[in-house]
Amino acid sequence: MTVTTETRAPALLPENPAFLTAKVLWVRHWNEHLFSFAIERPASFRFRSGEFVMIGLAGDKKPLVRAYSIASPHYAEELEFLSIKVQDGPLTSRLQLIQPGDDIYMGKKPTGTLVLDALLPGKRLFMLSTGTGLAPFLSLMRDPDVYSGYDKVVIAHSVRRVSDLAYHDELDGKLAEDPLIADEAAAQFHYIPTVTREPFRNTKRLGALIDDGTLFAGIEGAAALDPKTDRVMLCGSTEMIRDFAKLLEERGFVEGSNANPGTFVIERAFVG
Ligand SMILES: Cc1cc2nc3c(=O)[nH]c(=O)nc-3n(C[C@H](O)[C@H](O)[C@H](O)COP(=O)(O)OP(=O)(O)OC[C@H]3O[C@@H](n4cnc5c(N)ncnc54)[C@H](O)[C@@H]3O)c2cc1C
Ligand SMILES: NC(=O)c1ccc[n+]([C@@H]2O[C@H](COP(=O)([O-])OP(=O)(O)OC[C@H]3O[C@@H](n4cnc5c(N)ncnc54)[C@H](OP(=O)(O)O)[C@@H]3O)[C@@H](O)[C@H]2O)c1
Repeated sequence: MTVTTETRAPALLPENPAFLTAKVLWVRHWNEHLFSFAIERPASFRFRSGEFVMIGLAGDKKPLVRAYSIASPHYAEELEFLSIKVQDGPLTSRLQLIQPGDDIYMGKKPTGTLVLDALLPGKRLFMLSTGTGLAPFLSLMRDPDVYSGYDKVVIAHSVRRVSDLAYHDELDGKLAEDPLIADEAAAQFHYIPTVTREPFRNTKRLGALIDDGTLFAGIEGAAALDPKTDRVMLCGSTEMIRDFAKLLEERGFVEGSNANPGTFVIERAFVG
């Protein structure tokens, strides 16, 4: 893990009654577009694997916060996030400069639909992501409940460039370094990365990987998505979500929610 070393005094934030304040523990920069970081877990903070929460920094008059998927599983002692760097983005132009010891704000109420509760029982769980849409699936893939609930757990991640494949080595190694789920993951977990704008072993978009069977290679069951056995979680751009929701509904899948579990669930990885 590449961890930044401190070169300046930590940036501390004034207390705000609407938010928790948490210390940054480490920061890892993947490339000029992406970084990960972790914060201390406030003792009062509970969440379900796959949920998102508001995080941010001080703003002009009130905190400047944005929605972020928590990349850690629900039992974790530290809370990890995977972030884009938007160069002129109000939050991430500043958030990308955080260092260990700095404070960040975090909302008190996590929420979201990419949770096990929003899906009916099934045999194979397919988590399809583009870009930072991987983040909620990093949480779920480390949750033992996912492996007891499903026979097969599949993460597909589509990015533009090879260096955008955050967590590639950990995922490609079937989470072998994670003692809590390593045995289950060795037998049940499958990772299918694809890079659409540079040479790589897979270069097609996710839809094409479903059509040509790549998504199902080496996985027991049909080489197609079947609402009887399969459950699907989608996280990516608005366009990706719209396209896949249509494709799934055409194949008989029904969108689920916390109140009404279904056979697939969606969440936008960002707005815009
Ligand atoms: C439910 C939900 C969960 C989210 N989870 C995450 C997460 O885990 N990690 C994360 O980095 N962002 C996530 N986002 C996006 C995040 O809320 C912010 O948009 C992002 O941090 C940029 O903030 P900003 O103020 O710098 O720019 P903004 O003003 O928020 O965004 C400016 C523009 O940058 C682009 N953009 C913003 N976020 C992304 C992104 N993630 N990937 C590609 N392009 C983007 C869009 O074109 C957007 O219009 C999530 C958004 C939602 C709605
Ligand atoms: N590497 C970069 O240049 C880079 C990296 C991160 C962020 N950004 C900036 O952030 C914004 C979003 O970039 P991003 O790379 O995170 O997201 P993105 O443009 O959504 O691309 C991520 C992946 O999703 C694929 N994809 C896009 N739409 C799809 C759809 N409808 N169905 C299936 N797959 C789809 C892309 O394939 P295609 O390549 O075929 O479109 C790519 O593999 C951009 O505006 C960009 O400026 C750029």
